[in-house]
Amino acid sequence: MVRILKNITYRIFQFCFYYGSRLLPWREPQILKGPGSIAKLPEILHAEKISPVLVVTDQQLIKIGLADRLLKTLNEAHIAYHVFDAVEANPSTETVETLRNFFIEKSCRAFVAIGGGSVMDAAKAAAARIARPKKSLARLGGFLKVIRRTPTVIAIPTTAGTGSEATIVAVVTDSETHRKYAISDLPLIPRFAVLDPELTVGLPPSVTAATGMDALTHAVESYLCRFVSTRCRRYCKETVALIFQNLPVVFENGNDLAARQNMLTASYLAGVAFTRSGLNYIHPIAHTLGGLYRIPHGLANAVILPKALDYYGKIVHKKLSELACAAGLAVEGQTDSEAASVFIEAIIRLNRALNIPDRITEIRDEDIPKMIDWALREANPFYPVPKIYGSKELRELIDRIRA
Ligand SMILES: NC(=O)c1ccc[n+]([C@@H]2O[C@H](COP(=O)([O-])OP(=O)(O)OC[C@H]3O[C@@H](n4cnc5c(N)ncnc54)[C@H](O)[C@@H]3O)[C@@H](O)[C@H]2O)c1
Ligand SMILES: [Fe+2]
Repeated sequence: MVRILKNITYRIFQFCFYYGSRLLPWREPQILKGPGSIAKLPEILHAEKISPVLVVTDQQLIKIGLADRLLKTLNEAHIAYHVFDAVEANPSTETVETLRNFFIEKSCRAFVAIGGGSVMDAAKAAAARIARPKKSLARLGGFLKVIRRTPTVIAIPTTAGTGSEATIVAVVTDSETHRKYAISDLPLIPRFAVLDPELTVGLPPSVTAATGMDALTHAVESYLCRFVSTRCRRYCKETVALIFQNLPVVFENGNDLAARQNMLTASYLAGVAFTRSGLNYIHPIAHTLGGLYRIPHGLANAVILPKALDYYGKIVHKKLSELACAAGLAVEGQTDSEAASVFIEAIIRLNRALNIPDRITEIRDEDIPKMIDWALREANPFYPVPKIYGSKELRELIDRIRA
């Protein structure tokens, strides 16, 4: 009885939250797109009179010379900049604070984040802290806690997966507890995004695979949400089709620029969709694995995705069958449950083709209660999932993920 009442309360909350949020002043970043489009960034910086900028990146991107391309472009255009290159994968709250202090110390006017989701999120979270100097990151966690305008963030994704260049989200990991959590608010949507496929050609196949599966997970989770808008459904279908067509191609041949561009488009569209519609239980569990064991975000999602879809059962068959049709996987005359199985099987086959394991072996018994607590705290009551889970279901799902 208590559970029924709780579920009803969650549903009422979600209905009000998601329909109410459609009234908010949503925006999308201004996009530069196409091979070599990073060269056009100085035009924007000049037009907006933004200088000096803080280039945010990571050691790996400095090492392989990718960040250099941006610095060369800025040098040639005589745009003053400083560089912060100490962002780690799954950025910690400590890194975000250091980044924020560096931005203030150097009197920068904008963040130019060139890197994967970790780099973009670190810049977005630091921007949130600058807008709210008296609120700690922990207190900014959750929805709509930033409210104020942040310094400009320009996002240049070098992975095709997170869609962070389009979302209201910045995911950070608490340096002490290792809990990974999201700060989600509209001012965190970057003002500009550069979708230049040349920046992703050097991605190692394993990172291409994991990040691509992150985008697929965003699209599927978002599509399964209640109250998802017609436009977001369209974006999810487009993403799913693009990923089934292009991810195996870029995994085999990283230099295929057209396929790389398609992956960036897919990642962006999935970002727009999930930031408006919500997610399911897959991301919340993946976040616990990133925080506790530093498992790459996309890889965690890829492993959980087919298991979570199977665990939902009949309730998601119709929607999965629609996605199977969108991806050209379903055959005419199939029932919803047959087409849903085809879709789940196709994800399992894609994972295998991408050398993604079918389980997470790192999960320790003693961590499971913490994982359940963190995942439920992220998902309930916010995500308008098809079926509301409690601890029992999460434990069963986690058991399947490690089995
Ligand atoms: N803000 C959002 O909306 C959102 C959505 C999903 C995930 N995330 C978060 O994003 C983070 C994961 O981001 P990610 O999956 O992009 O990985 P990442 O940013 O952690 O990068 C993974 C690795 O790939 C390297 N790399 C990046 N681009 C490269 C390139 N072009 N060539 C060679 N190496 C390259 C990086 O240096 C790093 O070592 C997680 O913290 C996740 O929680 C955020
Ligand atoms: Fe993700």
